[in-house]
Amino acid sequence: MSKRIVLLAALVFGTLVTFNACKKDKAPDVDCSTISGATYNLKVQEIISENCLGCHATGGSAEGDGVFETYAQAKSKGEDIYEESVLSKSMPPSGALSDSLINILHCWKEAGYPEN
Ligand code: HEC
Repeated sequence: MSKRIVLLAALVFGTLVTFNACKKDKAPDVDCSTISGATYNLKVQEIISENCLGCHATGGSAEGDGVFETYAQAKSKGEDIYEESVLSKSMPPSGALSDSLINILHCWKEAGYPEN
């Protein structure tokens, strides 16, 4: 293979990888003043309960990777929850949350993880 083709392939591959990484790890572009329910008691608890506690609970399969059963636990793991479910979207493992739920988690973080 000629050097040129190798270089071109490397360039295309590098561009694709960079593009995908950006696309994947982007915070949602949302105006939080238009999002309701972005507190633990209003919606976040429900989102975590329905989508995460099947594994991230005491005795659950992912207990060792974080337990989010109470407000204190969820808040202390807030950055990790944000990273996994909003930015990289690698949690839950079955597939990303819906955009509306991602927006709520994003705005919860932006507001400093409020309880009420
Ligand atoms: C089907 C089981 C399951 C569900 C549901 C699930 N997780 Fe996980 N989670 C795991 C497992 C297994 C790991 C450890 C392996 C890994 O990181 O992939 C993990 C790891 C994590 C970690 C730690 C990552 C790290 O880098 O240490 C966080 C934070 C997390 N999950 C958040 C969440 C959130 C938030 C939800 C709900 C939106 C969720 N998970 C739903 C199984 C689950």
